[in-house]
Parts: sequence; structure tokens; C-alpha cells
Amino acid sequence: MEIKKVVVIGSGTMGSGIAAQLCNANIPVTLLDLKTEISELARDRIFKSRPPLLIDKSKIKNIDVGNINDDFNVVKNADWIVEAVVEKIDIKHEIYQKIFKSRKPGAIVSSNTSSIPIKILSEKLTNDEKKDFCITHFFNPVRYMGLLEIVKNENNDLNKINSLKIFCERELGKGAIICNDTPGFLGNRVGVYSMQVAMTEAFKMKLSIEEADAVFGRPMGIPKTGVFGLYDLIGIDLMADVLKSFIKELPENDKFQIVAKEIPLITKLIQTGYTGRKGKGGFYRMNKSNNQKILEAINLETSEYSPSKKIDLKIDKVNLKNLINRKDKYGEYAWSVISKIIKYASSLVPSITKKFNDIDEAMRLGFNWTMGPFEMLKEIGVKNFFEKIDSFENNKFLENLYKTKDENFYGERQIYTNIETLGKIKPKAIKIDKNNSAEIF
Ligand code: NAI
Repeated sequence: MEIKKVVVIGSGTMGSGIAAQLCNANIPVTLLDLKTEISELARDRIFKSRPPLLIDKSKIKNIDVGNINDDFNVVKNADWIVEAVVEKIDIKHEIYQKIFKSRKPGAIVSSNTSSIPIKILSEKLTNDEKKDFCITHFFNPVRYMGLLEIVKNENNDLNKINSLKIFCERELGKGAIICNDTPGFLGNRVGVYSMQVAMTEAFKMKLSIEEADAVFGRPMGIPKTGVFGLYDLIGIDLMADVLKSFIKELPENDKFQIVAKEIPLITKLIQTGYTGRKGKGGFYRMNKSNNQKILEAINLETSEYSPSKKIDLKIDKVNLKNLINRKDKYGEYAWSVISKIIKYASSLVPSITKKFNDIDEAMRLGFNWTMGPFEMLKEIGVKNFFEKIDSFENNKFLENLYKTKDENFYGERQIYTNIETLGKIKPKAIKIDKNNSAEIF
């Protein structure tokens, strides 16, 4: 199955990002949206995006735009049709009806949904249509985030799914992980849980947001936006919707429920337009005083803003053992957060995934962590971990590991970690030439 032409339906954040990445790979793509939205504007947004979604402005020639009323017939020529419209099931169902009526036989149809199970997405499809339908869950921004989660349904033509996986890896440069049809798949299930733990523990331990971000950041091998900075970047309102969906979809006894509860301060921020960087500000905000821009941080107890304080933990390299053994509130916070993440991630094995290192891959590729939870466990050391941990009942993975005490439990790492990344190679390489869009080493 060769993918030579693609149609993306929905030209918002994700549709534009996916279309731009196809342009980057020189795959002709048509982006469709409602007549009122005019994807023409999306083309312009892609062209001007910052950070740039295109690797070179000339790649824009690979995109065509149109609307679903007048231009839907382009679907007839596509080998892959990606749906990236709003997260509303009725709208998605209606679009699938239209697509399957028009697509050429055998063309792949996929959804970029982040929260609707494939069982529900595909409930109105015939068995034959289901063969070619799956979820392709890209991460935002599509060009920069390495993870693609693919979710199959029970009727899929597996050869086709496999060729889509290979296409997305080779042509679009993604690390594609096949996931089961469970809420949040792997990346968001563990990633959002981790953010919630980092946040709720900061409230509990009375850390300032700068302190929490200083620990749940570079010292843990996590991007420096930490948790509160990341919340502002994603959008505090969007995060609230994501949590509502997890609360609804996950069983009551899932540990996620404990950290997903509504927090009054967050409700207040959303109600007053403090939805993050896209709004008036969020946990952090830029304030102007005497014509000077000042970064301010919110106080979690009083909800008042004051100039943000730089926290220096005097850590220049990730060293989890040192971090969790620090005899201060930062060490205590780090252990509390890391141990909960390891416990939660391992509780999902084998029920959510049999391959525990898929969770690590997802965290590295989807959240830019340098280590996933199981690599953190390996780094801390099995013996050390069990000496410090309080309980791990009903956690098969940890129960087994406790018995074997196998420090080498990790075994082979998976493919994407073995790729030499630019960051690893650059310090050793010699620069030969450069222009405004590229450097040759
Ligand atoms: P968005 O709100 O930025 O864009 C949605 C687009 O769909 C809009 O341009 C809208 O005009 C269009 N649309 C609505 N009804 C339509 C119809 N009947 N026909 C054609 N176009 C229609 O939404 P976003 O964020 O791009 O999300 C799209 C999908 O991707 C959702 O399923 C979402 O859950 C998922 N997703 C979002 C991520 C994010 O970070 N924003 C990350 C991963 C997945």
C-alpha cells in the first residue's frame, strides 16, 4: 500500500500540523475545513507559524486547500484520509459516512482523536470499512513531537496498518507505537498523570510553582517548562477538559482519579480568563510595570501574583539517586513524585501494554523526557527503590521485580532510543557549512 496523496480534514492546530509535516515529506496533501473557516487561512498560518511547522518555506507548494462542501471529491484520489476535526463524536461520525462513500477502495481512514475510543469512533462502520480505519494520534506541535500512537480495531487489515506505521516512521519521521484502545492510550495516560501528581504534590507540600518547576524539570530529565509552565503552554482550560474525559472514562478505583480532582484555584483561573499563554496569563504571567516586562508567578495559597523567583538547585546533570536522597523539601518532593509515577506506570503492565518500555518510548517521544518511568526505576536501582517505597499492592510488575530484585530487568531498549539524536552527535561533530535554514556537520 503506497501513500502518495493525503487529505486532511480539519485545519485547526492538529490538522495544520499534520498537513505541514506531509508537506515537509513532499507528499501532496489537501487540507479541508468548513466553508466558513476557509482553510486558505490555515495555509497562511502554516506558512507563518512560529516555531516553523515547515522545514523550508518552499514546501508550502505541496499543500492544497479547500472546503468540505465544494471540494470533497479530492477524497476520491487520496490513499490516506486523516480526520482532525473538533473532538465531537457526532461530527466525526458524519464525516466518516461521507468519507467512506467517496474514498477509493482500500484507502486508509484515520482519526487524530485524543480521547474517543476507537470502539465508539467506528461503531457505525461496516466490517469492511473497519478494515481500513484506525486512530493516528499525533502530538502537538506535529513537526517537533516524535510520538505517533496508532490504535487498531478488531477488524483491521494488519498489513495495511503496518504499512501506515512504516510510512509514518520513514516519511514523517515519527516513532510510531501501536497502542491498545484504552483512555489516553500510553502517552497521555502516563504523561497527564505525571503532570497531575507533580501539581497536586506541590499543593500538598506547599512548594511555590517556581520550586516545583525547578525540580519537575531539568533535574528529572524533563523539559524546563516543568509542570506549571507546561500547563500554561497547553492551556489550563484544555487540561481541565482532558481531565474530565479521564475521570469519565477510567474506572473509579484507578489511581488517576485521585490526582484528577477539580482544584478551586484552577477553576477560578479559567473563569477569569487566565487560561495560560493564549489567555491573560496562567500560573505565570507577564506584567508591565514602568514600561518593563516582568514575569510573575502565582502563589498557590493566596492566588496573588508576585515577581517570579529563580530557584537554583545547583544541579547540572540529571542524577536521580542524588535528587531523591536530598535531605530537603526538593528531595522529598522529587521522591514523592517519581515514586508515584513509577508505581502508576508499572500498574499499567501488562493490562494496558505488555511492553513496559513502550511507555518509556511514549514519554520520551511525546513529552520530551530523557527517561521514561522504567528507565528512572533502573537509574534509581531496584534495591534502592524497594528500600524507599512504602507499598505496591496489586502491582504485578513491582511484585515480580521485588521477588527477582533483578537490577538488569530492563533488557533491550527499543528502536527509537537507539537512534543517535542530533543533540548527542552535535558536540562531537565539525561544522562544515551553514545558511539561514540549515547547518551541515
Ligand atoms: P481545533 O479546534 O484547533 O481545530 C478543529 C478544526 O475542525 C477547526 O478548524 C474546525 O473549523 C474544524 N471543523 C469542525 N467541524 C468540521 C466539519 N464538520 N468539517 C470539517 N472541519 C470541521 O482542534 P485541534 O486541537 O486541532 O484538535 C483536532 C483533533 O485532534 C481533536 O480530535 C483533538 O482531540 C485531537 N488532538 C488535539 C491535540 C492538541 O494538542 N490540540 C493533540 C492531539 C490530538
